[in-house]
Amino acid sequence: ETPPNPIFHLTETEQMLQETVSRFAQLNVLPKVREMDEVEAMDEGVIEGLFENGFMGIEIPEEFGGSGMGFGAAIVAIEELAKVDPSVSVLCDVHNTLVNTAFLKYASPHLRKTFLPPLATSSVGSFCLSEPSSGSDAFAMLTTATPTIPSSSSDPSSYTINGSKCWITNASHSKIFLVFAQTNPSLPSNQRHKGITCFVVPRDTSGFSVSKKEKKLGIRASSTCVVTFDDVQVPSENILGSVGEGYKIAMNLLNEGRVGIGAQMIGLAQGAFDVGAKYVYTERKQFGKFIAEFQGLGFQVAEARLEIEAARALVYNAVRTKERLDRLRMEEGEKGVPREEMEAFVMKAAMAKLYASRVAQNVSGSVVEWMGGMGFVRDGLAEKMWRDSKIGAIYEGTSNIQLQTIAKLLQKDLQK
Ligand code: CAA
Ligand code: FAD
Repeated sequence: ETPPNPIFHLTETEQMLQETVSRFAQLNVLPKVREMDEVEAMDEGVIEGLFENGFMGIEIPEEFGGSGMGFGAAIVAIEELAKVDPSVSVLCDVHNTLVNTAFLKYASPHLRKTFLPPLATSSVGSFCLSEPSSGSDAFAMLTTATPTIPSSSSDPSSYTINGSKCWITNASHSKIFLVFAQTNPSLPSNQRHKGITCFVVPRDTSGFSVSKKEKKLGIRASSTCVVTFDDVQVPSENILGSVGEGYKIAMNLLNEGRVGIGAQMIGLAQGAFDVGAKYVYTERKQFGKFIAEFQGLGFQVAEARLEIEAARALVYNAVRTKERLDRLRMEEGEKGVPREEMEAFVMKAAMAKLYASRVAQNVSGSVVEWMGGMGFVRDGLAEKMWRDSKIGAIYEGTSNIQLQTIAKLLQKDLQK
């Protein structure tokens, strides 16, 4: 299903999903947003609603209980949820773009059969890469997975994971954890990433625990926890992809995830803008007229609208580029995807995330000012959107890491 214009038009399926998600967000999320922020916890009923409506298995094929839609649909849902609550949006984002995609792309038939149905219908997932001493420098992780090799075979039958991960989104609710661990700690430091392997760890595995829940500036309803592995034993069949392929899996997933965060940020910016623009054009009068009729404010509103449009174009350009790569992969196989096209997508994803998070911060900050005192108090949602916007420049690679990604690709291209 090709949209009429590759960037700006949604397909019919995407439009239908957009309407359904928007209705769900207005009816089921909006009434709870303020309280969820105050108590710093997600309402379980909201999570159930996300599953019941098929928003947690958007790209999972129908045979596994999912909605069988494409990447663009997942992005539309993330954007739409963020207009109302960026916390609910990130829960859906991590689950769909990082966890579900990992199973769809890299899991064995056995793992797909075991984990895709619960992921589509009832079990939240988490992605565990960051550690206390390795955030941006993610491949310097200290968590290890040590193989157990039975005497009867040369292949490991299981791995024992030790270490801890921090900042893990959804951890309070998740039943399925994707865990990146070092399986070859003796590699030299410039090769260490080639020892990283990705494991599936169900929550009820012995030695696995979820501990400290962070108290945060923004997206306070989203749970962010430390998770610990104390001799956690998982069978070798729980490896996603192959041994040593974990870093590629992590980065390929994060490229898609970064587009998701871009969508979360444009949704947030639009949600804040809608509240602010309505206030200054139709509600608040000073000096005898609506305050946006003063050019000083009207031009700011126009600038904000322009920024959102530009950020949205970057996000959906990255979406359509990724979908083109998928089509190439289906038609020609992995080798049929030219490296340049793959790298062009990596750059577009980094740009979309970087720019959309700047725009979200600028626009939501402006909305607080446009609304004066009313923007600063916790009666409305403006101040919350501003607090929530800050995370866009931090997770799934900080803004400097996005700049570094773009700069490295430019260097490679220009010096080849
Ligand atoms: N896409 C594909 N491959 C990539 C890549 C990308 N964006 N970035 C790096 N790589 C590959 C490189 O090609 C290289 O592979 P080869 O050796 O096979 O050629 C390998 O990774 C190492 O690359 P670098 O030498 O550039 O590695 P580095 O050590 O300088 O950089 C990095 C490390 C981890 C890639 C870093 O640039 C980075 O992206 N850090 C941010 C980590 C991150 O995004 N964490 C997010 C955690 S999840 C999360 O945050 C979820 C949430 O909040 C909701
Ligand atoms: P650091 O890496 O210590 O960075 C600190 C500062 O130094 C930043 O400004 C950064 O840009 C700058 N910096 C670092 N290196 C460079 C460089 N080479 N050049 C220039 N500047 C540099 N992780 C997960 O694995 N799973 C999750 O689900 C998850 N969810 C998260 C949810 C929240 C709410 C938060 C706050 C974080 C989450 N993270 C998650 C972790 C997140 O990805 C990291 O916080 C992020 O990658 C940055 O790492 P750090 O916090 O260690 O900061």
